[in-house]
Amino acid sequence: MTRRKASTGVLASAAVGAIPTVAAAQELKHLDLPAPRREGGQPLTKALMLRRSTREYSDRPLPDQILSDLLWAAFGINRPSGDRTAPYWRHVMVIDIYVALADGVWLYEPKAHALLAHLKGDIRAQTGLQDFVATAPLNLIYVAHGERMTDVSPEDRRLYASVDTGFIGQNVYLFCASEGLATVFRAAVDYSKLARTLNLPDQQFVTFAQSVGYSRA
Ligand SMILES: Cc1cc2nc3c(=O)[nH]c(=O)nc-3n(C[C@H](O)[C@H](O)[C@H](O)COP(=O)(O)O)c2cc1C
Repeated sequence: MTRRKASTGVLASAAVGAIPTVAAAQELKHLDLPAPRREGGQPLTKALMLRRSTREYSDRPLPDQILSDLLWAAFGINRPSGDRTAPYWRHVMVIDIYVALADGVWLYEPKAHALLAHLKGDIRAQTGLQDFVATAPLNLIYVAHGERMTDVSPEDRRLYASVDTGFIGQNVYLFCASEGLATVFRAAVDYSKLARTLNLPDQQFVTFAQSVGYSRA
């Protein structure tokens, strides 16, 4: 079953509403993404030449395969040890990637390379302070587990979580450059409002967001 078909089953059956609610336990679905393609793409130097930020998006959705490849490139598992495509602080896994699509918000689960339903409803407009976020087919929301960062001050938690996120964001930039996709990494976010929308526990916080899609130009 494709993600789109599966998500129709999960979210449409619950009559997707304007106000998102935490997906009820019985509705939580583990949606397997297609296996990520680990070959091909543009040479690194070409991707570096093409890397840029884009702020005008068409509403064309991303194919499931592209979403799969993108999430793997962002922070997927690239070794038998379970380590990731991006480096991370003290070998403590701090960052989660939430995937805001038109049909709801999903949590990327790298071990299963799957999406877990998190919220019903289209919250894309709430993922940033710029208008294009509502039309970009995908907004990634990077969330840090502060409670996993023991022995460090709140300031350092922000610092290390931000650095971890920056590496992921650059993976996304390079993947998008290689695949002809548009993206922009974003700090212009109403952080407390977005944390409330996502129903994040107190110790978790949004670090940044990143829009992905096809350029309108
Ligand atoms: C930490 C950080 C925060 C950013 N926040 C935003 C943002 O909120 N909105 C936006 O449109 N671009 C944002 N950007 C993108 C930068 O504006 C962009 O990378 C910069 O202008 C250089 O342009 P380029 O990426 O096309 O080379 C951010 C970039 C970084 C690294």
